[in-house]
Amino acid sequence: MKTIKVTTGRPYDVRIAPGLLLQVGPMAREIAPSTQKAAIITDRNVEPLYLEPVFSSLEGAGFETINYSIPPGEASKRGESYLALLGWLAEQKLTRTDLIIALGGGVVGDLAGFAAATYLRGVRYIQLPTSLLAMVDSSVGGKTAIDLPAGKNLAGAFYQPALVLCDTNALSTLPEEVFRDGTAEVIKYGMLCSPTLLEELRGDGLRTQSEGIITQCISIKRDIVCEDEFDTGLRMLLNFGHTIGHGVEKLSGYAISHGLAVAIGMAIDTRSAVKNKLCPPDCLTALEELLALYGLPDKTEFLPTQLYGAALSDKKRAGNEITFVTPRKLGHCELISMPMSEMLDWIEAGVSL
Ligand code: GLY
Repeated sequence: MKTIKVTTGRPYDVRIAPGLLLQVGPMAREIAPSTQKAAIITDRNVEPLYLEPVFSSLEGAGFETINYSIPPGEASKRGESYLALLGWLAEQKLTRTDLIIALGGGVVGDLAGFAAATYLRGVRYIQLPTSLLAMVDSSVGGKTAIDLPAGKNLAGAFYQPALVLCDTNALSTLPEEVFRDGTAEVIKYGMLCSPTLLEELRGDGLRTQSEGIITQCISIKRDIVCEDEFDTGLRMLLNFGHTIGHGVEKLSGYAISHGLAVAIGMAIDTRSAVKNKLCPPDCLTALEELLALYGLPDKTEFLPTQLYGAALSDKKRAGNEITFVTPRKLGHCELISMPMSEMLDWIEAGVSL
């Protein structure tokens, strides 16, 4: 088992190994020795696969265990779903000393995490990510959020989990398209700061050495989050491809999934960086080859003006400036700020071939 210590304001462990979902009970007990109740939040795809073993493990460790399932998909991150979940927690009389368990992918983690951050002004929670995307990105670092009609993740809180357990066995039950979605975030880490990771991804590393690659991604994220827990500087790097990506997701009515949208966003930003002479063309070639290798898109049908309109709601916009992530060479990205008035040109350069 690999353990990564995240030393944020409230420190916690991320553990990575096959079979961890069967050990949730005793591991939850270590961090919550006198807690009575555990509320598992999951979705209806994950429920038939993993609810029973997680439930039994928690009961076996002496937790009175209850569960709540949401429909899978981004629509469950709407305000109504969030309020319904809070209502259920209150009906169940969950108290401040109890525990919330997020069992599932990014949607479950974001929704359950935001409920944990706000119900009774904060209840401890454990992340049990079951998708690649949730393991390498959304379960770690304490960003929790729901969507607003104006855009994705626009209401949320920084609220670190008390423990994250990544059971790599769960990857074997992921539908191909859900696995693929996570590969975009893995490629993102390579582009940000790890030529070695990019090299490993060119082989079949992700399928054959998932534990090692997930550990590398989480270590990179840990280092960044520990330096900038509240996303005021360095952490914005983790949003490479996300400003345009979130726009693509929103414009598609969330029919285009997060990972695919981020892949498109990274390609557009890199193309524009090359055209603006911020990075050499080999960086774009390498990214396009990797995206193709993992079956990820690098183009969108949406118009630059539509993408620009969506970016106006981006959290990284401050007044008339937006902070952007741009590659400078293969395996190295930097933050740049640009006036919003230049952003449309940036997107146009990245969209055209
Ligand atoms: N997913 C980006 C971050 O956690 O900052």
